[in-house]
Amino acid sequence: ASDSQPPSQCLGPEYRDEAERPEATVSKPVPHDNVHILAQTPQLIALLTMIRDKNTGRADFIFYSNRIIRLLVEEGLNHLPVVSHEISTPVGRHYAGVKFEGKICGVSIMRAGESMEQGLRDCCRSVRIGKILIQRDEETSKPKLYYDKLPEDISDRWVLLLDPMLATGGSALMAIEVLKSRGVPEDHILFLNLIASPEGIKKFADEYPKVRVVTAFVDQGLDEKNYIVPGLGDFGDRFYTM
Ligand code: PRP
Ligand code: URA
Repeated sequence: ASDSQPPSQCLGPEYRDEAERPEATVSKPVPHDNVHILAQTPQLIALLTMIRDKNTGRADFIFYSNRIIRLLVEEGLNHLPVVSHEISTPVGRHYAGVKFEGKICGVSIMRAGESMEQGLRDCCRSVRIGKILIQRDEETSKPKLYYDKLPEDISDRWVLLLDPMLATGGSALMAIEVLKSRGVPEDHILFLNLIASPEGIKKFADEYPKVRVVTAFVDQGLDEKNYIVPGLGDFGDRFYTM
């Protein structure tokens, strides 16, 4: 059932004694080939523990969220195609490497998705960033599209769609519709996300099996107000206002 407890796992390298490897709750696995969950390392779990804690203040929330966002962006970039690229080194030898060939852009789902823009800029200098303003109705949890501003040539780009929270999936699905209406092929979209619900992931994967999702954690489920549990509360409020 989607509301079952996520699994526990001993964290840390196997050469350490059991006593030195505490158990922690890790992400639920998911049966979808297009969904990639970050490795559940002690680092990542410690960062998530910080941002989930209701006693973590805004400055620390921003600092630790930014570290997870950086991990998501770095992993997300691994899912873009590369071509062979041989170079010469200063000592006169060749090195058979690779390079990314193609254009990318970021698209943030406002407001919370904007928190991920700097992490993308830190990895991809002068990257173009578009915006889609979608707000979830507080009562019904249904998304409403207010505004979008996207690069004109977005259909020729790989799109990194940014939103830290995937709850019912309504907002992310609506954002994909906007991107598709501008000619972006589904398999050129990569959705970067901090915490997802199993319900949101399933809806997303069923509807858009070609859109790749990179997430840090698939949580237990949703509560009666469609908040992710155990979750971290309202990401936008904690990052921008609290
Ligand atoms: C949050 C979050 C997602 C959405 C997730 O944004 O950032 O966009 O809710 O919920 P869903 O999967 O059920 O659609 P919200 O609309 O609260 O606005 P905010 O970014 O201004 O906080
Ligand atoms: N948006 C959030 O910020 N948190 C949730 O748990 C659900 C939607």
